[in-house]
Amino acid sequence: MIKLEHVTKIYPGQTEPAVNDLSLEVPDGEICILVGPSGCGKTTTMKMVNRLIEPTSGKIYVEGQDVMQMDPIQLRRSIGYVIQEIGLFPHMTIAENIGTVPKLLGWDDARIARRVDELLELMGIEPAEYRDRYPRELSGGQQQRIGVARAMAADPHVMLMDEPFGAIDPITRDRLQNEFLRLQQKIRKTIIFVTHDINEAIKMGDKIAILNVGGILEQYGSPSEILSHPANPFVEDFVGADRALKWLNLVRVEEVMDQHPPLIFDTQSVREARQFMQERGLDFVYVIGADRSLKGYVNARDLEGQQGWVDAFLTPAAVSIQLGTSLRDTLSELLASDYRTACVVDEEQRVRGLIQLDAIQEALSARKGGER
Ligand SMILES: Nc1ncnc2c1ncn2[C@@H]1O[C@H](COP(=O)(O)OP(=O)(O)O)[C@@H](O)[C@H]1O
Ligand SMILES: [Mg+2]
Repeated sequence: MIKLEHVTKIYPGQTEPAVNDLSLEVPDGEICILVGPSGCGKTTTMKMVNRLIEPTSGKIYVEGQDVMQMDPIQLRRSIGYVIQEIGLFPHMTIAENIGTVPKLLGWDDARIARRVDELLELMGIEPAEYRDRYPRELSGGQQQRIGVARAMAADPHVMLMDEPFGAIDPITRDRLQNEFLRLQQKIRKTIIFVTHDINEAIKMGDKIAILNVGGILEQYGSPSEILSHPANPFVEDFVGADRALKWLNLVRVEEVMDQHPPLIFDTQSVREARQFMQERGLDFVYVIGADRSLKGYVNARDLEGQQGWVDAFLTPAAVSIQLGTSLRDTLSELLASDYRTACVVDEEQRVRGLIQLDAIQEALSARKGGER
């Protein structure tokens, strides 16, 4: 979808390249993050894709076409661009800002108005209340969303986003990141996204390109690959000493849990339960209802010499983990609970699996062995 081949940029009057022999491929529908310290050539790389800057050497292809062979004006209108520091036009209304590119493309007024309202709704901003306001009347977070809406206005396949959430407070940024990821599930744009924040890169990226000063590509890979196998000391340092914890953030509990744990029903007898545990060498076993809802657990010790039904000997489970929880949060909950094991449950509290501290430990070791 977007392909860079040996792209180098040396600015006039400079001897050192701002971007140095960069080759990258961004597959259709994915977010590629360019991340690295200030001055490493992120913005330069992005601006070469839509020809705001021309490369000194090398080739750039967008949707299979060499950008140097394309009309630069048309190229720019076909690519959504969110510039660093938002950059809304201050004396234009929100509607006029969002409608900029459609207007240049010659859409009629009614179509533009419909598109503006559609995008405002998509961004969670009330069209009737905001379309005729000016950017300064909006909060930083709202302005960021308008910047994104403006880039999406003509429904481009490709989007370039230069630190789109850079200028806002961490809480709003977190919310906008989540919203954008949800949106991307639907719109599936091919995106180059620039940030200097490794955590944002890990969260937002399908692929991450880590750049160093001088425009050198240090590593290109999925967030998981980069956290598991940093290519060199620069990357290791850049991703941080807590990379194992960051990796745990990427993995969901269902990827590691035992999907067929030993379970008994609350209608079973104490004798059956004892035998079940004996055969499997268990000290305790989780108990479910007919609908697989978690009832608690029984200890082998408590059943010794007893008769009747297991539901009379239930201990409530102190902790259960929701499907979709990250391994990092799972680990925190287990550590806080004093248990080494917990059931993984769905929204209806039905047991879907079992997670053990040991399994998390094993996943961490396997990561280093390159299984992910
Ligand atoms: N128009 C320009 N003329 C000369 N040098 C530039 C120009 N724009 C950027 N640079 C230099 O190129 C390098 C990369 O800049 P930039 O792409 O803006 O980095 P980043 O976005 O990663 O912070 C920096 O050393 C910067 O000073
Ligand atoms: Mg920049």
